Amino acid sequence: MSLKNYEFSLPTSIFFGEGISKETGKKARELGATKVLLVADKGVIGAGLTAPVEESLKREGIPYTVYDQIVPNPRDYHCEEGYRLAKKEGVDCLVAVGGGSSMDTAKVIGTLLTHGKAVQDWCGFQLLEREVTPLIAIPTTAGTGSEVTPFAVVTDTKTHVKLNIFDPKAAAKTALVDPTVLLRLPSHIMAATGVDAMTHAVESYTCKLANPHTEAYSLYAIDLISKNLRKAVAHPDLESCTGMMLGSTIAGIAFGYSDVGAVHCIAEALGGRYDTPHGVACAVGLPAVTEFNIPADPEKHAELAKALGVNISGMSSEAAAMAGVEELRKLCKDVGIPKLRDIRGVNPKDFPSIAEAAEKNVSTPSNPREVSAKDFLFLINKIYNED
Ligand SMILES: [Fe+2]
Repeated sequence: MSLKNYEFSLPTSIFFGEGISKETGKKARELGATKVLLVADKGVIGAGLTAPVEESLKREGIPYTVYDQIVPNPRDYHCEEGYRLAKKEGVDCLVAVGGGSSMDTAKVIGTLLTHGKAVQDWCGFQLLEREVTPLIAIPTTAGTGSEVTPFAVVTDTKTHVKLNIFDPKAAAKTALVDPTVLLRLPSHIMAATGVDAMTHAVESYTCKLANPHTEAYSLYAIDLISKNLRKAVAHPDLESCTGMMLGSTIAGIAFGYSDVGAVHCIAEALGGRYDTPHGVACAVGLPAVTEFNIPADPEKHAELAKALGVNISGMSSEAAAMAGVEELRKLCKDVGIPKLRDIRGVNPKDFPSIAEAAEKNVSTPSNPREVSAKDFLFLINKIYNED
């Protein structure tokens, strides 16, 4: 076995278990918090998911302020608004409760608190000069893995391009991961976020930046998600929700410390243009892009099929890989992912510019097969015309 040199380290401590968010106050105290900004959207607050967090902060005597202007595909100006509030209140610790939007917004607020300037000034690979304000991340969906990833993705509202801060200094210091929060999640959100997690697992496994450590995380996440997503969507119970929450966090580590590929390049371009929920934007492209990538490494794609639960014995690598693609297609269909052409606002006239935006994505070079703007246009049209 020959290997290129690589590094694997995690800046986030993970605490997993039922009711773990009750530990927030204690963990904030350990991080030296004297004033907390609690970042959560109104839906999460209304569903009572911040209540144990707030009680825990009160129990520890740590004052907090709430910032609740969180939207899907978070905007640059919301991050700046949250930053101004945090600065005014003298915040020295952030707690994010929610999906990727809340956690990513909190990472950007922490970056602005410690670095100043604008979001755009810190977008890129490892540009941060120091650790950002400590963040405790508490996911309420099994999707983004943002509680363990070293990046934040927000939308530049002037250019409609996704901005990406990639730096372990921006990662959460602590992740409190409670599977029971998924029990009451609406099924269409479980489906979309769950396929996003599957996409992280698949793309991190096949991408050019994968290494043996991330591959191990990827394969286990693929196994967990493929065994639990259908059940978690149709009839969620503690077992399937535990499998999904573990799968999502483990996939987060896998892609956070390798990369994603062309599925995410297309998804982020679609999200920037149409505000498509990220999980849906990933799900529509996952089977077709995986099929496109098979020639880059048929054997690895056959292993992917095996992790998806496909019996590949007696098959050639190419046939096994194609069976894996069909399994992904079936999974997306079974959990009710809509077709690209049925998504509100999608217009083929926009596809050339979406393909160009996808090609400019920082993850394009990581895709296992070289992919040009022309290839992206071919793929987007293929996805749009799929039955
Ligand atoms: Fe994603």
